[in-house]
Amino acid sequence: MLDSPKNRPDLPPEIARRRTFAIISHPDAGKTTLTEKFLLFGGAIQMAGQVRAKGEARRTRSDFMAMEKDRGISVSASAMSFDFKEFRFNLVDTPGHSDFSEDTYRTLTAVDAAVMVIDGAKGVESQTQKLFEVCRMRDLPILTFCNKMDRESRDVFEIIDEIQENLAIDVTPASWPIGVGRDFLGCYDILRDRLELMDRADRNRVAESIEIQGLDDPKLADHVPSDLLETLREELEMARELLPPLDMAAMHEGSLTPIWFGSAINSFGVKELMEGIASYGPQPQIQSAEPRQILPEEKKVAGFVFKVQANMDPKHRDRVAFVRLASGHFERGMKLTHVRSKKPMAISNPVMFLASDRELAEEAWAGDIIGIPNHGQLRIGDTLTEGEVIRVTGIPSFAPELLQGVRAGDPLKAKHLEKALMQFAEEGAAKVFKPAIGSGFVVGVVGQLQFEVLASRIELEYGLPVRFEASQFTSARWVSGPKPAVEAFTERNKQHIAHDHDGDIVYLTRLQWDIDRVARDDPDVTLSATKEMM
Ligand code: G4P
Repeated sequence: MLDSPKNRPDLPPEIARRRTFAIISHPDAGKTTLTEKFLLFGGAIQMAGQVRAKGEARRTRSDFMAMEKDRGISVSASAMSFDFKEFRFNLVDTPGHSDFSEDTYRTLTAVDAAVMVIDGAKGVESQTQKLFEVCRMRDLPILTFCNKMDRESRDVFEIIDEIQENLAIDVTPASWPIGVGRDFLGCYDILRDRLELMDRADRNRVAESIEIQGLDDPKLADHVPSDLLETLREELEMARELLPPLDMAAMHEGSLTPIWFGSAINSFGVKELMEGIASYGPQPQIQSAEPRQILPEEKKVAGFVFKVQANMDPKHRDRVAFVRLASGHFERGMKLTHVRSKKPMAISNPVMFLASDRELAEEAWAGDIIGIPNHGQLRIGDTLTEGEVIRVTGIPSFAPELLQGVRAGDPLKAKHLEKALMQFAEEGAAKVFKPAIGSGFVVGVVGQLQFEVLASRIELEYGLPVRFEASQFTSARWVSGPKPAVEAFTERNKQHIAHDHDGDIVYLTRLQWDIDRVARDDPDVTLSATKEMM
């Protein structure tokens, strides 16, 4: 199983058994259902339905969450850990809505692989495509699950073709469906030569598994009607001719994806997918950092914050920083150095997330995700180490695509507004710019819906009604270059200059023409649409 440069036989067993991944999909493809079944087979929940039920209970806690529910979107991302056989799975949830793409991007910096769920009747949909592109930017290995095979679905070759064409990735079948829709019987497990039969009567039962000695095994005829068997043999022969075999190195480079067919709601194909993640998914990977890379097996602990979430528990107004451990063995109570401030931090009550319950994390290993409650010291992109000054790289901040001004309903509460905005900026929920001239703030987001979410959170969490309104600016670019050039530039362009929440200089404009002009007239100054978080 370890015949890939990305899975190294020398990793300590505790690290080698970890699989940290996210699920990417278009809304409605079945991500929630699949997650639930993962947790069910991982023993983290006793009964399917709990994730949703707990989700409902949590959502009713506030109007903001009610809004999340109304829209059918998941605004917050979380991480869940569970065991499957001798493996530890860490599943990092990605926000599903396209307006939260920056958040999603950062979430994907914390995983080693992604499971792509597609609906067998719909194929590759827009959101899947977008999320896939993000995975591609990081060469993340992808395992594909084609869901809802119990319903009328598209022809298997057509689905595979579509993935290959639209996503420019090779596809290798790990299983092959037998029959479609009402006649769907189950799958032939190509990797293990097994017949998997779906139980339609009991949705939570794992499929019956029958060992088969190749496609000529007479046992097949005992379970599969002759017409379906003939089709299966023909299709598999064609698949072997037309499609590449499973090649671990190609899969780990992100150029080949194995595909499993199944029905999450019927618990079918899920176990095989989990076995696939365990056997073929990548172990915790080397983390890029400055001035040197971090290897997972290093004795000392290093980790980075990829997400900050406020008000996870309305009773405690805390924030939780989600940290991906890049190396070492973490133990509760450890003192880590917060590299940005160079200050020590005692990590006394880290949490891990089992299903939707929090638990104290007594220990964690490279690959794991822990939540660290804090009062705002920890920001996205921060690195924690045992003292070494090292900074994890590759966690970008994107220039927002929409800018608006914001005003407090009560002008006397401007300070409260500033505090609220800074909190969201630090969480990564919005960009907040303070123009050099005049008062007030310009808020930048990726999608319109985020303004509504911000407005309702500011009202709920700070008791402050606010109004977002059109801004004279539409684009923001970070300014960098030699100090004298930047100073001269900001002096000449005061009406366009603002500072972000880190104090970095930003150029605001409404015209692409302005941005082009700067490139032409101020060659020493660079305007960039991304900034590395640090
Ligand atoms: P999402 O998180 O990707 O948005 O999808 P989710 O799991 O919520 O599933 C979307 C809908 O698809 C749900 O139906 C779910 O029951 C259904 N579904 C999931 N897997 C399968 C499957 O394998 N086969 C079939 N036929 N349906 C599946 P819903 O009616 O929107 O919700 P619910 O009333 O069932 O909860």
